Amino acid sequence: MTPLLRQVLSQIDGPDPRVNELVSALVKHLHAFVEEVRPTDEEWLAGIDFLIETGKMCTPDRNEFILLSDMLGLTSAVDEVNNEGPEGMTPSSVEGPFHSPAPEREAGAWISTGPERERGVATVVHGRVLDCDGTPLAGALVDVWQASDLGLYDTQDDAQDPGNLRGLFTTDAEGRYAFRTIRPSSYPVPTDGTAGRLLRAVGRHPMRPAHLHYRVTAGGHRPLTTHVFLAGDPYLESDAAYAVKQELVIEPRPRTDGWEMDGPYEEIEFDLRLVPLGWKDGR
Ligand SMILES: [Fe+2]
Repeated sequence: MTPLLRQVLSQIDGPDPRVNELVSALVKHLHAFVEEVRPTDEEWLAGIDFLIETGKMCTPDRNEFILLSDMLGLTSAVDEVNNEGPEGMTPSSVEGPFHSPAPEREAGAWISTGPERERGVATVVHGRVLDCDGTPLAGALVDVWQASDLGLYDTQDDAQDPGNLRGLFTTDAEGRYAFRTIRPSSYPVPTDGTAGRLLRAVGRHPMRPAHLHYRVTAGGHRPLTTHVFLAGDPYLESDAAYAVKQELVIEPRPRTDGWEMDGPYEEIEFDLRLVPLGWKDGR
């Protein structure tokens, strides 16, 4: 440890021990970074400017810091350490930057009410919300949101009304939920800000594989934020947000009957198993 680092650490002595721990560790890692890469004055200033620019990109509808965190795998790393659970649980995944309040909808309703419904592949999505032991969870809230067949969320697309491709559903006595929609497309994350600059600088593509987002809450259980990914997507192996987990990849089934649809459609069946509050793994 350098005398300088020792001096900085010795002065960290606030009232909250956890804050002291977090700041001390951050300082240690930042100093180790400087030791390792020996940045020039210009490089250090460029880093500061990058953070300033990132802050300036942030609005109530856009958080460039979260996008940056997603692109560096940091969000997935934090998700990983906070969502351990028993065997059988549905893995969590990152929330991403596009959640907004969804309209409440009846079981089986269409969440696609815009022009994409004429173009997209009709899809029925259904499943159950369960405890990890398989007990159905009635009255659970299932909040879903997705991009269109063009890869755009309602908040990014003037052709979509607010709340399009979003829905809030309540599970029935058997824990079931269902909705009708169109198949989402893979999409690039916004690349007009600092996150995009970083991706270009290190030679990475900005694509996320096609997915639906879920946030599920049920009494007595840990809320679950996760994704469903569509099998066969070319970006499953290189998701720009590092959010793919094999258990979350589902193969849509081609169907022609069973859900009172007007023509051929695809069916996605996805059960969500929540972890009881207070779960301990015995370690
Ligand atoms: Fe998304």
